[in-house]
Amino acid sequence: MKFRGNRLLKASICLQKPFVAPLRRHNSEMTLKISSRANIAPFYVMEVMRSASEKENRGENVLHLEVGQPSTPAPVEARAAAVQAIENDILGYTSALGLDSLRQGLSTLYRNNYNCEVPASRIAVTMGASGAFTLAFLACFEPGDRVAVPTPGYPCYRNVLEALNIDVVEVPVGPETRYQPSPELLASVGPIDGLVVASPSNPTGTMLSSEDLTDLIHWCQAEEVRFISDEIYHGITYGIEASSAASLWEEVVVVNSFSKYFSMTGWRVGWLVLPPDLVSPVERLAQNAFIAATSVSQHAALGALASRAELEENLRRYATNREILLRGLPQAGIDNLAPADGAFYIWAQVDHLCDDSQELAADWLEGLGIAVTPGIDFDPVNGHRFIRFSFAGSTAETAEAVAELSKWAEARRS
Ligand SMILES: Cc1ncc(COP(=O)(O)O)c(C=O)c1O
Repeated sequence: MKFRGNRLLKASICLQKPFVAPLRRHNSEMTLKISSRANIAPFYVMEVMRSASEKENRGENVLHLEVGQPSTPAPVEARAAAVQAIENDILGYTSALGLDSLRQGLSTLYRNNYNCEVPASRIAVTMGASGAFTLAFLACFEPGDRVAVPTPGYPCYRNVLEALNIDVVEVPVGPETRYQPSPELLASVGPIDGLVVASPSNPTGTMLSSEDLTDLIHWCQAEEVRFISDEIYHGITYGIEASSAASLWEEVVVVNSFSKYFSMTGWRVGWLVLPPDLVSPVERLAQNAFIAATSVSQHAALGALASRAELEENLRRYATNREILLRGLPQAGIDNLAPADGAFYIWAQVDHLCDDSQELAADWLEGLGIAVTPGIDFDPVNGHRFIRFSFAGSTAETAEAVAELSKWAEARRS
């Protein structure tokens, strides 16, 4: 086996005996502090996944329409690059902003996909989009700043902002604006320091048109509001091209990831496109918080940038699954559906079927073996009226779930 890289780095690891504190028993006189920052909501979909896997452990079959992740492995080029790196590279720390070759590859992606020049020097490789937005929130906002997030929306923005003592300003969005914020809605929530937008969105799959994205950015420019654009579902759209906010304003912070389009959730690699003056703050935060994103995953990600055919095949599967759900759910009496312009989700109103979608989801899991995500994760106020269906799984699984739901609806009617 041949290793490249800095052997001195290995030698410099200082082997000190760890200090082991004497074990102290917990007793009623002693209350060790736990920060209230940790007192944030769980990510409920994880609970659904746990119940589903308990059911599977009992030997029962589960149709997975809950998970927001591709049912395919990383593309073959990514896996080959990882094997190559494991065999030939020391795989030590990379620089905090990531492998130069990967940053360069991402810069080329902006040129090819969006006709937009983003120099590699403005790109930071991160631990997934989650690492990216956490670094962005730390670099952009002070405790007490007000940051707007659309509701329904991805819950981890809200929860991480809260953990950082940043005030979350929920902007209720609905079908009138395709479940996306508009300048009018933002003007109604009082002064804000930042705005986080995902287009396509999780859980609704809806997108901002390029005109609406431009209007939002103009509003943020006029109001001096930091715009954070989560573009993690770019590449997974159905007949609509997504525009990157990076091509509209240099001051935008773009969050993206290899998790979804590139089918690499567990590899934990994503990236940020940063305004020039945020590169050094993010670099210093990343150095201290993470040192760097996982080396082997960065090599795999570089391989993934060269894949196309396999990823296009995944897209065709999502499109077929989406059609099956859009046709089949109304037959099961679930017909109030968000348009699903992109991503692999359908946001469905179910309040004519239940008082609380958590109970409906539990019933479907128990009775039909279908796992779905109750809306509470994405909207603490109205989420109990909605279910999120994911169609990232196999076509056979999606079709079987729709058939089961139709039978369930039929039985309910008779
Ligand atoms: C909108 C959105 N942003 C960020 C993430 C986190 O992605 P990652 O796996 O890259 O951390 C997700 C995951 O589902 C998501 O839906």
